Amino acid sequence: MMNSHPLPSDNDVMTFGIIGLGYVGLPLCVEAAENGALKVIGFDVNEQVVESVNSGCSHIQDLTDYQVRSLRNRGLIEATCDMSRLAECDAISICVPTPLSKTRDPDVSYISAASDAVAATLRPSQLIVLESTTYPGTTREVLKPKLESTGLVVGEDFYLCFSPERVDPGNKTWTTKNTPKVIGGLTKACGDIGQSFYEQFIDKLVRVSSVEAAELTKILENTFRAVNIGLVNEIALIADRLGVDVWETIDAAATKPFGFMKFLPGPGLGGHCIPVDPHYLSWKMRTLNYKTRFIDLASEVNSEMPMFVVDKVREVLSQHRVSMNGSGILLLGIAYKSDVDDIRESPALDVMQLLQEDGADVRYHDPYVPKLPWKGAELSSEELTDTVFSWADCVVILTDHSCFNYEEIIDRAKAVVDARHAAFGAGVAIADGDSWIAKS
Ligand SMILES: NC(=O)c1ccc[n+]([C@@H]2O[C@H](COP(=O)([O-])OP(=O)(O)OC[C@H]3O[C@@H](n4cnc5c(N)ncnc54)[C@H](O)[C@@H]3O)[C@@H](O)[C@H]2O)c1
Repeated sequence: MMNSHPLPSDNDVMTFGIIGLGYVGLPLCVEAAENGALKVIGFDVNEQVVESVNSGCSHIQDLTDYQVRSLRNRGLIEATCDMSRLAECDAISICVPTPLSKTRDPDVSYISAASDAVAATLRPSQLIVLESTTYPGTTREVLKPKLESTGLVVGEDFYLCFSPERVDPGNKTWTTKNTPKVIGGLTKACGDIGQSFYEQFIDKLVRVSSVEAAELTKILENTFRAVNIGLVNEIALIADRLGVDVWETIDAAATKPFGFMKFLPGPGLGGHCIPVDPHYLSWKMRTLNYKTRFIDLASEVNSEMPMFVVDKVREVLSQHRVSMNGSGILLLGIAYKSDVDDIRESPALDVMQLLQEDGADVRYHDPYVPKLPWKGAELSSEELTDTVFSWADCVVILTDHSCFNYEEIIDRAKAVVDARHAAFGAGVAIADGDSWIAKS
């Protein structure tokens, strides 16, 4: 344990505390324990999560039970609900959720609660790093006052940084270790110490001059995606009215070797980050009397996409002389993107809701989501049996999981709306001139 400086000396094994053991926190725990020669303690308010980690199981799809179990067996990782044990940690990273409230304003209550827990045991020389995505100003305006209410001074007694997480669930190439990590400190000493700490287990650190620059960097990355997806979704709406295949157009544009970056249209934005994070910046800028026009417009276009998909379903049904009201609709894929089990903000849920409002009987199939909490009940993923295919008046591909057999789906379904262009991509669509309808 260090006395004045939280970097390890030859004899020390540092203790790294990670608050929030979700999609971000648990991979960080494993990376730090595997590569950092650190002892890692994971903190979570959810007892089931803590028990699962302590029994050597992973509740995060990208990590295997074996990875967690072998670190547990070697005594390098443990989990606890006991926040008083934050006192044992030399460095603490906060990876708690940052959702939107019902009024779509930032909900930083999880960050506040975690900061209160850190403040309760704060001691000299600790390094505290916020990793949760949030609006510029959070580290300085929310964390710093709470931590300094202890009488300890940032940059002198303890060190405070913001370093956003960039994990991309399901991505086998870019992991926590080899994805460059941005970091900014409240003071120069904070940034120096934070950078040295993460360099123990992350390949490349990118230092910026302030916590606000680090906070804005993360929101820029996610806003860049939200706005570009909004742009291609609008081009998709335009192309549809022009009778042009938007995917063919995008593929052709992407042959330009410079100055074009490929984004794809689809049923709408999903996941915990892209649909949510830009609104953190919008909210912050509203407090400064500035309207974030690109963010607002992209959000408007992206949120029209589920209805666009439902209109395609209605079109296909009417070709078969079937009314939406009373029809059977099978959704293929409920997760927000391919090959993950995450349903947060998934546009498939919006499509399901809209179809039900129009009187359709909706079922789903998703091997990654065997159970789906829905309106106080629980739905189960359907098996792809002959009975289900003959029940469904239309199948809607909403998530392009790589395990789907598109040839079989086209063969067995009466009609297929393809919101991911997956059956077309697999070369099995029976096209009728509409690039969203793979079988009419
Ligand atoms: N999921 C991603 O792909 C991703 C990528 C980059 C950044 N982020 C950001 O990282 C942050 C965490 O996201 P996530 O997807 O890991 O969330 P998550 O919901 O998967 O996990 C958060 C965990 O924090 C726990 N928790 C909540 N409040 C707590 C508290 N006061 N003390 C201790 N534990 C607490 C929850 O029980 C949960 O296990 C968010 O700000 C998110 O925007 C997420």
